[in-house]
Amino acid sequence: MLGKIGFFETDDRPDIAADRARVLPALRQQLQSSGRAVSVTPALGGTLGVCFDAEIAGEKRFLKTHLPGADARASLAKEADVLVRLYGSTIVLDRFDVRLADGTARLCLLMPALLPLAGPMQPAEAAAIAGESSERLGDWRPDHLPSFQLYLASAARALETLSDRNLIEQATAAETRRLIARLEERLPKLPAALCHGDFGPKNIMLAGTELRVIDWEDAFDGIAGYDYLYWLTFMENRAFLPTAAFGRTGLAPDIERAILALVVLLKSYLAVRSGAYLKHAVPPQARIAEILELSR
Ligand SMILES: Nc1ncnc2c1ncn2[C@@H]1O[C@H](COP(=O)(O)OP(=O)(O)O)[C@@H](O)[C@H]1O
Ligand SMILES: [Mg+2]
Repeated sequence: MLGKIGFFETDDRPDIAADRARVLPALRQQLQSSGRAVSVTPALGGTLGVCFDAEIAGEKRFLKTHLPGADARASLAKEADVLVRLYGSTIVLDRFDVRLADGTARLCLLMPALLPLAGPMQPAEAAAIAGESSERLGDWRPDHLPSFQLYLASAARALETLSDRNLIEQATAAETRRLIARLEERLPKLPAALCHGDFGPKNIMLAGTELRVIDWEDAFDGIAGYDYLYWLTFMENRAFLPTAAFGRTGLAPDIERAILALVVLLKSYLAVRSGAYLKHAVPPQARIAEILELSR
């Protein structure tokens, strides 16, 4: 989520479609130069990703590059490092530089074509896979890992923006601020984990029958349990909130509620910055209040 917040907080955003159109011919040419039969087409569906579907010598592949700039490159390098740590060379088949016409280079990951999940996941399964990934990563940390402090700083900006625009009631803002302050105070004692940062249904895919967690660009040094709570805040998982919000992470219920409130606050903020909230069925105030009112 931090990557998207950063993207929508700047005014001079790169044009993703134009960027994809710049990368495509360079990528195609570079892959074809090996003499293999190659087809590459833009892949749609991600948010900030510059991604392509490909067929290389008869094998279905997926290629992921990044937007211009050193930070975007570092985030994709971080993703590659985590994927290799988790899955060896079965998901990152290759990583190489694509050289563009303007002389710059982009890091590119070559992956097998994975499939989306056949149907919705249950909370117990989501909690298990989130927990397993963090556990397998253990104390290992990739370079360029943001800390949870960035979330706390973003939350302060989010509360200010939503309050200024009258998109959140004063009492709701006050209670959210109180919960997040408590989370900040308890932070040093909470169990640390390398968190995915965007653990949503679309970032869990299938390699054959095995689940694979992809898209680690938003990974951060966080709290064990955060990813599962984040997963619960997706609209398609909303029906699970009343029964699955508490007691699945090992964290105290007030901490679980604080993390849920922080995530929904930041998602609302992101929706306001990007303009997407105008199309959302549930406005920010209702989404946040729903978390504050969950009974445990
Ligand atoms: N290896 C893959 N095979 C097939 N589709 C993929 C693969 N990796 C990602 N995708 C698809 O592309 C989308 C965007 O890729 P992702 O890595 O999640 O980037 P973003 O940061 O844009 O979300 C995913 O949600 C998924 O639908
Ligand atoms: Mg994704």
